[in-house]
Amino acid sequence: MKYSLKSGAPQEQKTPVLVTDLTTAGKVAGSERQTPYFKAAATDFDNAVGQTLLLTFPKGAAVQRVLVVGGLDAEVTLAAYRKACNAAATALARLPVRSGVWGLGLARVIDTDGYSKTTAGLFAVSRAAYRFDHYKTQAKAPAEVLRTLGVLADGRSESLVRKALRDANALKAGLDFARDLGNEPPNVANPTYLLQQARAMARGQTNVKVSALDEKRMTELGMGAFMAVSKGSETPGRMIIIEYRGAPRSKPPVALVGKGITFDTGGISLKPPPAMDEMKFDMCGAAAVLGATRAVINAKLPINLVTVVAAAENMPSGRATRPADIVTTHAGLSVEILNTDAEGRLVLCDALSYVKRYKPTAVVDVATLTGAAIVALGSHASALYANDDAFAEELLEAGERAGDRAWHMPLWDEYQASLKSNFADMANVGGREAGSVTAACFLSRFTEDLTWAHLDVAGSAFQGGPAKGATGRPVHLLFEFLRNRA
Ligand code: BES
Ligand code: MN
Ligand code: ZN
Repeated sequence: MKYSLKSGAPQEQKTPVLVTDLTTAGKVAGSERQTPYFKAAATDFDNAVGQTLLLTFPKGAAVQRVLVVGGLDAEVTLAAYRKACNAAATALARLPVRSGVWGLGLARVIDTDGYSKTTAGLFAVSRAAYRFDHYKTQAKAPAEVLRTLGVLADGRSESLVRKALRDANALKAGLDFARDLGNEPPNVANPTYLLQQARAMARGQTNVKVSALDEKRMTELGMGAFMAVSKGSETPGRMIIIEYRGAPRSKPPVALVGKGITFDTGGISLKPPPAMDEMKFDMCGAAAVLGATRAVINAKLPINLVTVVAAAENMPSGRATRPADIVTTHAGLSVEILNTDAEGRLVLCDALSYVKRYKPTAVVDVATLTGAAIVALGSHASALYANDDAFAEELLEAGERAGDRAWHMPLWDEYQASLKSNFADMANVGGREAGSVTAACFLSRFTEDLTWAHLDVAGSAFQGGPAKGATGRPVHLLFEFLRNRA
């Protein structure tokens, strides 16, 4: 789907559907000579945030339908606005229309400019309009799927809205990319597939370079932690590196690192069967950094960016790592692997050590790292850890602006003790307590000389249950952070 700017008043539009507030809907009904119908329909409408009402006008009307969105006649908070946009987007995506006009950018939102209003609305639309149905043999006919959305702007905010539309189109491409990668089944989305997708993204871009380390090269580089995870699988692992140059070569890059476990069985420390299928989402960190990279490329942000994806499959086999095996990492530290299901930190520690050669000003890794992050925060916030408070603040604020929030978790020294091993420099697991924190502590030992943050997105990057699927988080947070750096 594409977003474009629309001018003119709501009642001057010609469209299959206009999305707007109740007051404006009344004006449109007036110009379509449908005031009695409007009055009757509005009588029972609860004009509150989260409610919607569909008005359908007779054939021949310039505006064929009005999707009335509750609660937006008065000034609202940004949180309420987001909720209204979500309800509107969900209702809009259900309609059998190819195009529409989005009028909610005209709503009054406290302390929010046209840029944030537009991106907040279009983020909701992107999510609601997203489909992953190419494995369904009875997919909906394309004629009924929303393809283009015109966005109304008042004269005052037009330049901000124009800018927001450019970014929203870039962000949409990045979000959909991340969701698609996440939802793709694990017999398709293996490490080689992620590399192919990265290459496809770079095709035709003169300022994007994609390379990869294969298992032979990683073994030569002493990446014993990565290899300990990958060696149990028949599908070879890859370290994928994408270099984007949007600023002069002299400017050091920002780096993103993603956990790309394309399926996590747990390895020899095998997971129990219930919901094991959801471990295809264990590459959502990788999907998010790839999605954010696509958004940066499309938005042509004037920054330098290095993206590293640690892609491997965690399988049990005769060649798999045993609990008690000791390996040496790329950084030279030894690790006793007490639980092969704590594999994310193993592939990430070697990726984080490797990324140092690019001398990044800041590094963010993104990983579906621990079930404990879900226990701690549920699905509303990603768990954020950082070795620099100002950097943590920068990411928290980006998440706040994007409506893709994170919560700052502690990385205190006291937690480090749980990683003690009797036989190696450290164990790969702490005890039962504070599992998301001790996982972050493990990573922190490989990032001491970096400005580094870690996002544990086990709760936010995908949903289980009836709405099972990848959410595309935290692409929006990352994009907002990078946009701000640019
Ligand atoms: N990929 C999982 C974490 C996970 C669990 C993400 C559920 C999303 C939903 C990770 O590799 C893992 O297995 N972590 C273990 C760590 C433990 C062995 C210390 C966990 O969380 O149980
Ligand atoms: Mn695991
Ligand atoms: Zn995992």
